[in-house]
Amino acid sequence: MTDQANAAAFDPGDDDVFARIADKYDLLCDIFSFGIHRLWKAGMARRIAALNVDTALDLASGPGDIPTRLVGRSGAPRRLIVTDLSPKMLSLASERLAGQDHIAIFRLDAHTLDGIDDNSVDLVSISFGMKICDRERVLASALRVLKPGGHLLNLEAARIPVPVIHWAYLTYMDICLPLISGIATGGDRSAYDYLLKGIHTFPDPVSFSEEIARAGFEDVHHTNYTGGIVALHEARKPDTKSTAP
Ligand SMILES: C[S@@+](CC[C@H](N)C(=O)[O-])C[C@H]1O[C@@H](n2cnc3c(N)ncnc32)[C@H](O)[C@@H]1O
Repeated sequence: MTDQANAAAFDPGDDDVFARIADKYDLLCDIFSFGIHRLWKAGMARRIAALNVDTALDLASGPGDIPTRLVGRSGAPRRLIVTDLSPKMLSLASERLAGQDHIAIFRLDAHTLDGIDDNSVDLVSISFGMKICDRERVLASALRVLKPGGHLLNLEAARIPVPVIHWAYLTYMDICLPLISGIATGGDRSAYDYLLKGIHTFPDPVSFSEEIARAGFEDVHHTNYTGGIVALHEARKPDTKSTAP
């Protein structure tokens, strides 16, 4: 792993921990965020639809939280590829997205995006997956598959600008995440241990913007949600046509 890898160091090759929380994933999201994750995800879906693209690739989709919010939305991608490493998560996504002929669902590692052609998609999105991935590898793969001028959107844990409030938030997560996920899973806290480590170690939004820019993206900017608990980063792959002499 590179120095931009996350301390969460999730290695799904060893153990698909997310399969074991898949059925309870939405409920746990509601509990940990007091339901506010729904607003964050709706905000991201709104931004994706505003870009009005043909082909979008959603990474680490889980049970399909972002794709389900795009269904029926004006401006939503005409073709949507929904992906995750966990077969169990993908089967839940398939149930929710049944009958949507413009949506393809398959297993894909966000680090490599093997099987997705270079310069082939207009938009890559990832929500709450980046903190358990090697960011440098995911960003490099996203840059590879995006068409010139294509869009990257990343929704992820951020940093509340007031340190004492951020500390209080982390303390809440340190106590509640292991406790509630332990109860919900009958004692298996592995998935939430990864997520908790990811929340603690994810860079602040400005540093993450710099990482995105170093990876080769331009027009990098972010929007804080709920006082900076999470942030939506947006960036574009440089459009080679516009920089040609
Ligand atoms: C916290 S869930 C996020 C789910 C959903 N995107 C959301 O917004 O709630 C993280 C997901 O990332 C998936 N995941 C972890 N590592 C991955 C990788 N290298 N490639 C693709 N998916 C991965 C897990 O299986 C899990 O479904």
